[in-house]
Amino acid sequence: MRTYRVGFIGCGGISRAHADGYKHVRNAQIEFVAGSDIDPDGEKARRLADEYGVKLYADHEVMLAQEDLDLISICTWPRGHCEATVAAAGHSVKGILCEKPMAVTLEEADRMIHACGQADVALAIGHAHRFSPQAVRARELAQAGEIGHVKMIWGHCSLDLMNNGTHVIDLINYLNGDVEPLWVMGQIERHRNLEGRGNHPDMMVEDMAIGRVGYSNDVVGLIELGERADQAFAFRIIGSDGIIEVNTPDGPPLKILSGFRQQGWYAPELPDSRSSFHSELEELIDAVEGRVVHRSNAKNGRRALEIIIGIFESSARRTALDFPIEVRDFPLERMIREKMI
Ligand SMILES: NC(=O)c1ccc[n+]([C@@H]2O[C@H](COP(=O)([O-])OP(=O)(O)OC[C@H]3O[C@@H](n4cnc5c(N)ncnc54)[C@H](O)[C@@H]3O)[C@@H](O)[C@H]2O)c1
Repeated sequence: MRTYRVGFIGCGGISRAHADGYKHVRNAQIEFVAGSDIDPDGEKARRLADEYGVKLYADHEVMLAQEDLDLISICTWPRGHCEATVAAAGHSVKGILCEKPMAVTLEEADRMIHACGQADVALAIGHAHRFSPQAVRARELAQAGEIGHVKMIWGHCSLDLMNNGTHVIDLINYLNGDVEPLWVMGQIERHRNLEGRGNHPDMMVEDMAIGRVGYSNDVVGLIELGERADQAFAFRIIGSDGIIEVNTPDGPPLKILSGFRQQGWYAPELPDSRSSFHSELEELIDAVEGRVVHRSNAKNGRRALEIIIGIFESSARRTALDFPIEVRDFPLERMIREKMI
């Protein structure tokens, strides 16, 4: 088993979940080395340093130059993701787990993919729900035809597109077998004029969003977020002969109504649940060592972002849009600047 020297860029709440994930990986030895944060004296960074013995830096360029790091977790607020990823790739790390959303614009996402491609770095995006046993099993059952032909996948949650929305969209993509989206139509509303919220203090946010995505396998994805949406992070896969429910609040995390089985709702067996953070980091190590393509790879992370950008842009232009979405800026910012919203 190889030993990997680990560093963090952004040492707040989620960096500690990553650290716990590294601690439990079964396919490598982990050496916690360093972390960098714009607020290295802050309580959160100090806590990571105290618990995991990492040396703190105020500048990740200095950290990357001084420490010979193999794996980097990027846990900054969203506007830091691109720059930190490109910097880490420039210092020849082997693997990067960058938190969601992948970036703020498609231009940034493309720079991240280019930098990691040039330096042969495995880049994964923190869409950790792809590792939940109920999501994995739901995808298998849908693909095995347990509910006939899948027609629609409906997902909803609290907050906004860039925060929870990226998880909702990415999981719809995953449940649908990661096929290409063909078109998107969306609408957003912003009335509280928030300039940031919670762990996205650097992002303007909308209050409500709805999106409808048509995929190349004729499945439709329906995304509902924010105020007036069902606040549960939950999904319904609707087929020609049944329904699969994932994470719906009443009942087990996975349940199925299958016309073929004629037994009413039932809950399939699930494997023991491990933390998604352990699993996504183990898969990153497998990807670094060439055994697998990471299921949350940069291409899939970019696809979730492209759908988000498409929803914003569709709302701005009041029309459905075909993929690829040729928008290089962050449309919400433009809509606010141009007083469209
Ligand atoms: N995968 C998940 O389920 C999940 C859960 C929570 C948060 N997140 C994501 O993780 C990211 C961070 O969230 P958090 O809850 O840890 O936030 P946080 O506010 O607790 O921590 C962020 C830390 O990053 C530092 N930081 C911000 N910008 C920086 C930069 N450019 N360079 C260096 N340090 C910087 C801040 O000082 C802070 O210490 C967000 O993108 C969020 O969406 C993902």
